[in-house]
Amino acid sequence: MAGEMEGRLSGTSVIPILTVQDPEQAVLASEALARGGMTVIEITLRTAQALASIRAVKEALPSLQVAAGTVLDDRQMDAALAAGSDFCVSPGLTPALLRAARDRGCSLLPGVATASDIMCGLAEGFQVFKLFPAMAAGGVALLRSLSGPFPDVRFCPTGGVTRENLGILLAEPNVLCCGGSWMASQSLIDAADWAAIEGLASAAQSGRGT
Ligand code: 3PG
Repeated sequence: MAGEMEGRLSGTSVIPILTVQDPEQAVLASEALARGGMTVIEITLRTAQALASIRAVKEALPSLQVAAGTVLDDRQMDAALAAGSDFCVSPGLTPALLRAARDRGCSLLPGVATASDIMCGLAEGFQVFKLFPAMAAGGVALLRSLSGPFPDVRFCPTGGVTRENLGILLAEPNVLCCGGSWMASQSLIDAADWAAIEGLASAAQSGRGT
């Protein structure tokens, strides 16, 4: 299971996170992100149109990996899978959510913020985690502290990641990639500034962030 998630994320520096109100906008933003080199995106289940947006993006861009984000329970996991999500992302983890993923054969990137969270995940066979909220929880200092007791664990820091701190985070050996909303923010989507989204994605994918 761990190797499977590592494989999914190995080709990308960043997972852009979209919280979208409209499937058409989701497609346009995703097309811009893909033009900028993104191969994986996350659409959070925080809006009424999130599932329709996942479905629309998968139809328009079948080769783009689309994750459902903010998956909190098995019902949301089922809905995300039915909409065509390639995998699920959660901000934290519960034993029930980890078991639901295993029972469904659903790829899950579960969130952790502490050593105890990681131990719960390891006990269920997970080795790759979203570190959330990455910067508020300690950023690089936390990643380095966790590398001692958990040398084989890999992280996708998310939450407070910006184009300015992206490079510093990606330089940590236990970081596979980062997640963040800055490449496709609500204001850029509202402004239909697809060129800006493409440019931010392109800079992020090259690991520079700016
Ligand atoms: C998430 O859903 O993981 C976070 O909202 C992303 O955090 P950010 O907005 O600080 O990038």
